[in-house]
Amino acid sequence: MRKIKLSIVVILGLVLPLVSCGNIESTGNAPQWKSYSGDPVIERKVDSVLNLMTLEEKIGQMNQYSGNFAVTGEVAETKAGEYLKKGMIGSTFNTFGADHIRMLQEQNLKYSRLKIPMLFAADVIHGLETTFPIPLAEACSWDLELMEQSARIAAEEATASGIAWNFAPMIDIARDPRWGRVMEGAGEDPYLGSLVARARVKGFQGIETYKDFSKINTMMATSKHFVGYGAAQAGRDYHSVDMSVRTLHETYLPPFKAAVDEGVTSFMTAFNDLNGVPCTGNKYLFKEILRDQWGFGGMVVTDYTAIQEMVAHGFARDIKHATELAIDAGIDMDMISEGFVTCLKELVEEGKVSEKQIDVAVSRILEMKFLLGLFDDPFKYCDAERQKKTVMNPEYLKAAREVAQRSIVLLENKNNVLPLEKDEPKRVALIGPFVKERESLNGEWAIKGDRSKSVTLMEGLQEKYRDSQVKFSYAQGTSLPVIDRTTQKVSTTTVPDRSGFPEAINLARNSDVILVAMGEKYHWSGEAASRTDITLPGNQRELLKELKKTGKPIILVLFNGRPLDLSWEAENMDAIVEAWYPGTMAGHAVADVLSGDYNPSAKLVMTFPRNVGQIPIFYNVKNTGRPFDENNPADYRSSYIDSPNSPVYPFGYGLSYTSFEYTNAMISSKKLERGGDLTVSVDVTNTGNMDGEEVVQLYIHDKVGSVVRPVKELKGFKKIHLKKGETKAVEFTIDEEMLKMYNIDMEWVAEPGEFEAWIGASSADESNHLEFSLVE
Ligand code: NOJ
Repeated sequence: MRKIKLSIVVILGLVLPLVSCGNIESTGNAPQWKSYSGDPVIERKVDSVLNLMTLEEKIGQMNQYSGNFAVTGEVAETKAGEYLKKGMIGSTFNTFGADHIRMLQEQNLKYSRLKIPMLFAADVIHGLETTFPIPLAEACSWDLELMEQSARIAAEEATASGIAWNFAPMIDIARDPRWGRVMEGAGEDPYLGSLVARARVKGFQGIETYKDFSKINTMMATSKHFVGYGAAQAGRDYHSVDMSVRTLHETYLPPFKAAVDEGVTSFMTAFNDLNGVPCTGNKYLFKEILRDQWGFGGMVVTDYTAIQEMVAHGFARDIKHATELAIDAGIDMDMISEGFVTCLKELVEEGKVSEKQIDVAVSRILEMKFLLGLFDDPFKYCDAERQKKTVMNPEYLKAAREVAQRSIVLLENKNNVLPLEKDEPKRVALIGPFVKERESLNGEWAIKGDRSKSVTLMEGLQEKYRDSQVKFSYAQGTSLPVIDRTTQKVSTTTVPDRSGFPEAINLARNSDVILVAMGEKYHWSGEAASRTDITLPGNQRELLKELKKTGKPIILVLFNGRPLDLSWEAENMDAIVEAWYPGTMAGHAVADVLSGDYNPSAKLVMTFPRNVGQIPIFYNVKNTGRPFDENNPADYRSSYIDSPNSPVYPFGYGLSYTSFEYTNAMISSKKLERGGDLTVSVDVTNTGNMDGEEVVQLYIHDKVGSVVRPVKELKGFKKIHLKKGETKAVEFTIDEEMLKMYNIDMEWVAEPGEFEAWIGASSADESNHLEFSLVE
């Protein structure tokens, strides 16, 4: 297909009077454009295009649609098609394929008077076609390089398939497992969440400096959803968020700031209101924090129909009012609402919105198109040959298998029932709806991951144990219930009954070990998939109870997108393997872990509660005036009368087939001077029979503050590999920076006083305790 070069615009950019050098002049309070790149050449190019544009064309750049506007090479008679013919779409999302996007771009260029390239975006959340584990799972690897690598592969595939802008990473802190979108993020902790945010932004964007955007395999990343979306009231998606400014700054903002520090190019608004102001119309968030305090120069897109939704929120009278509020808040691009495209012109004519405001937004959008090189070659990401060579190439599949292995968390392993050694003769009863389940293995947001290509557990086991002493037989036992969204109940046509129980129980009786694979159907988590009951759905637990009666050891493998209530399973199962949704290579990766070919090393990044009543539950809570006293449980102290305070599995928890001993905790000095540092260290020994990896974690507690501090906070971690019998000293440096917090006046300072630290295997491991003080 013919390549259209848009040199005309570029040439214009160089010869036109170099107006205002990228900074739209500000008069009084008029907004200013501060470019992302800070590069005067790019700024001049942007200005020169902007100066040629009509108001309608500018507004068109701020308009984003989903899906296709052309199906067979000609513009379809749709709303999107209508705007396209007027040259009034700046971006579309979630269409794929080098050839297809080439065709769409051709259509766009045909109608765009100034030949302004369209920007194609997509939700490439955990891989494009090669599907990696869901992000929550991957975060459990605590392996930042690995996460960067999987994001890089996703970018390689996506940029070969026409996509230059990724709506990822989702970096919302999430502490409520009822909320279905916990599967998309990195869990509950702001420190770990910030590092993961950086790793993923780095992976997707693949740049050291903005100049690298000229490379073929770089894409824009999006920090979403700004902000607080993970704190939706009662875990119900899109629900209201009410939190203190302190909590916002201490817990929910840090990953977003980290993404800005990593050079992220775009932000997406959150659907929710934050303390009464919908995020899409929230000046405090976008102007004060993001632009003024953090100096963010990239672009901001709304979430899907979020401008329109401000009417339902009761914040805007109508779409026109909502549009005014959004542009005033500093939003650059309108996803789907059509508020900008239908109302902005009128608002300008009425003097309610200035053309300067629009120029600023359009400059941000144009800058990205220049940085990506789309003005030079609008078909840069449309090389069908490259796409063919890139997607699902064997190297990527290999990486996907490794990432999946490293994301699987071993939760229980009583009497070392695992691994299932290949050379030990054993009859294994394979039971449960996930043994042959294929469709769910990619999890939600596997946008182009072909579900039919994912490897089932059965297939993985068959290959792994082909020539072994382990013999499998299978009975499904029960099936996964399906939710009928119209009644919000389990569908009456798919209610799992107990008819499969007898066959499964019989099989179990005639086996040495029972391996059960259970979980949630993939769309039980993700967007608009909140649950009020987080136990295993349907009658899966009932089946487990029946199997338990056989007295045979049971290994439970779980496939799910959120922490579940495993209170009964934890006590009654011999082994529990949390596989999450492992992606394309699911069956192989789980078989690698079950067989011991890979020794599990992942640790939870979200607390697993005992019941929904404990939610929200997370490790870094504040202490009360009446902390629970184990020696006096009946006292009037902060506790429940019907449940312990502690979770089933804490943050940072995960087992290995080997064991690690922590000894010799030491501190280099009891006093830390401002500007100085000290070292804490521990010796970690692999005391078991296998080589393995351990995530060694450092937690710190500020004992007395001008405001109450959490009982502990993660401040560092190291993932180390230890051969059996090997000992390594693990050291962490503690400095003043690490002790900083928002004091009573909301200043970011370290307050002098006493601190305690723990170096351990999880947030609940307090065996290696150290103390020091920060002195003036
Ligand atoms: C709505 C989701 O909240 C957001 O994360 C996603 O990027 C958009 N839809 C586009 O698919």
